Amino acid sequence: MKRDVGVVIVAAGSGSRTGSTELKQFRWVAGKPMLLHSLQTFQARNDVAMVVCVLPRGYAGDPPPWIFQSDAERLLLSVGGRHRNESVANGLEDLPAECEIVVVHDAARPLVSSETIGRVIDEARKGNGAVAALPVTDTLKRVDSQDNIVVTVDRSGLWRAQTPQAFPRKMLERAHREAFEANRFGTDDAALCEQIGLPVVVVRGSERAMKITEENDFAVVEALSIFRE
Ligand code: CTP
Ligand code: MG
Repeated sequence: MKRDVGVVIVAAGSGSRTGSTELKQFRWVAGKPMLLHSLQTFQARNDVAMVVCVLPRGYAGDPPPWIFQSDAERLLLSVGGRHRNESVANGLEDLPAECEIVVVHDAARPLVSSETIGRVIDEARKGNGAVAALPVTDTLKRVDSQDNIVVTVDRSGLWRAQTPQAFPRKMLERAHREAFEANRFGTDDAALCEQIGLPVVVVRGSERAMKITEENDFAVVEALSIFRE
């Protein structure tokens, strides 16, 4: 198996929506610090050559000690930017040249599975960008500013994008470079590719890989961790 996958785990946010002063990515959930979950899951794969953890300024030089409960030879620490985009770009720059496939993942999704990671990597090896995602199952309503329903939106073909997202390295570098030059933003890496017409597909993600955004999400992830995929 080729060991040519570089991973960027973005963990440089401030977690403001949890309402807590402690950084959410360093808090314990389902038995260990949130970031350590995905770091260990990626390093358990033989195709992963390097994992860059992008940390808030001040932590890259002085990381929490538990981060070394991982393979230190396949671990780099990088400093995040003001927006998620910048944090990804910083991590991407630090990946060694042998990493021809890049996987980007949110530290805020601790329960990502190796199966999902494998699905995005398989697509990237075919030359596509790939996003773990789930089809929308609820009925969707568009509402106006007074909460009146304007219309029911057809949900066929609508998916909720998660991470991991994988790309041929050259594709992701081009997408970030052109977005930076044009001062364009996107809420994920796939969007930067879509904006310039690069091919991106969805593969099946998982409810377990939900993002911890608000305080109550810690309890939901704790509960999800009990169930197997
Ligand atoms: N992230 C990052 N750099 C930023 C902003 C976000 O690396 N400048 C990371 C977060 O650490 C998280 C992921 O991107 O793992 C998804 O972001 P989000 O869930 O929004 O986390 P935060 O930005 O930390 O939370 P909030 O928006 O509530 O402040
Ligand atoms: Mg955020």
